[in-house]
Amino acid sequence: MPLKLKFFFLMLCVLGLNALAYFYVAEKIHQHQLRAQAQTVVANVEAFGAWVANSGRIWVKANNSESYLSREEYSAGDSEFAQKVVFFSKNPALAQREFADVVMHSSSPTKFRMTSENVMNPNNEPDGFEMRALQAINKGHLSEFTGVYEGAYRYAKPIYHTANCLKCHGDTANAPEDVLKRYGSQHGFGFKEGDLAGIISVSIPTQPLWEDLDQYIGAVEIGIILSTLILSLVCVHFWLSRPLKQLNNAADNLSLSTGFFNQPAQSISSSGNEIEALRQSLGRLGKATQHAVQKWRDTQQKNNQQKTKSNH
Ligand code: HEC
Repeated sequence: MPLKLKFFFLMLCVLGLNALAYFYVAEKIHQHQLRAQAQTVVANVEAFGAWVANSGRIWVKANNSESYLSREEYSAGDSEFAQKVVFFSKNPALAQREFADVVMHSSSPTKFRMTSENVMNPNNEPDGFEMRALQAINKGHLSEFTGVYEGAYRYAKPIYHTANCLKCHGDTANAPEDVLKRYGSQHGFGFKEGDLAGIISVSIPTQPLWEDLDQYIGAVEIGIILSTLILSLVCVHFWLSRPLKQLNNAADNLSLSTGFFNQPAQSISSSGNEIEALRQSLGRLGKATQHAVQKWRDTQQKNNQQKTKSNH
C-alpha cells in the first residue's frame, strides 16, 4: 500500500478520534452552560423571595385577586361615600409562585417553579423529575440534582426550613389563620427545622448535542478539517514518497549499470509501498554489487594466472 494511502487512513483514524474527543468536550461545555443558566435562574428566584421576605409579606392593591394570604379593606376617606380599597397580602412562596406563573406564560424558554414532597398548594405537586430530585436530595443530602426529562434540561436546588418558615409550615396549631383558611390544614405542615422544604426546579428546553450539530459545524469548519487532511497528504508526498522514489530509481539504475539485471528500473520495482520498494531495490543493488565484485575478482584471478603462465 503506498505511503500516501497509509497516511490517509491514519489521518482518518486521528480525525475520527479527535472528533470524538471534541464531541465530549463540547457536550461538557453544553452541560456546564445549561447548569450555569439554571443556577442564575435559581439565584434570581431566591433573591426575589428574599426581597419579599424583607418586609415579611408584601401587600398589593388589586380589585379581584384570587391569590393572596389575607385580605384587608380600608376606606379611602371619612365620608359615607368613601370608596373601599382592598389590599391583599402575599408571602414569599406565594409571590415566587406568581412570578413563576408569569414566566410560565411568557416567551422565556426557561421556566421554574417551587415544589415539595408535601405541598401546601396542590398545583405545586412535583412531576416525575422533581419527585426523583426530592427523593435523591433527601437521601443523599445533595446540593443540587440535574437530569434530562421530556426534552428539557432539568435542575433542582434544595430549600431547607428555618425557624421562620415553621410559623406556617410547622404545627397546624400555630399556623396563621389566613393560611389555614385558604389552604386547609391537611398539606404543607408538620415540618421541622432543617427539614427539606422542597426544591426550586428549573427547566430549560434542550436536545442532544448531536441533533444540534449543524449549529456548531458548517461548511467552513468541514473545509478546515479537510484542508488539514490534504495538507498532510501533500507533505507526505513531497517529504517522503517522492524522495523515496528517487532513491529507489537511483538504486535500480545503479544495479542495472552493473549488467547483472537487464530490465529497465521501473519494471523491477514490484511493491506499491515506497519503503518496501526501496528495500527490494537495495537488496538487488546488493546482489548486483556482489556479482560485480565476484566478476572483478574472477578477472583479477584470470589475469594473475595468465601473468604467471607467461612468466614460466
Ligand atoms: C406566611 C406563611 C408562610 C411562611 C412564613 C412560609 N411559607 Fe412556604 N408557603 C406558604 C404558602 C401559603 C404556600 C403556597 C403558595 C402557593 O399558593 O403556591 C407556600 C409554599 C411553599 C413551597 C412550595 C410548595 C408548596 O408547599 O406548595 C415551598 C417549597 C415553601 N413554601 C417553602 C418555604 C420556606 C423554605 C419558608 C421559609 C424560608 C417558607 N416556605 C415560609 C406559606 C408560608
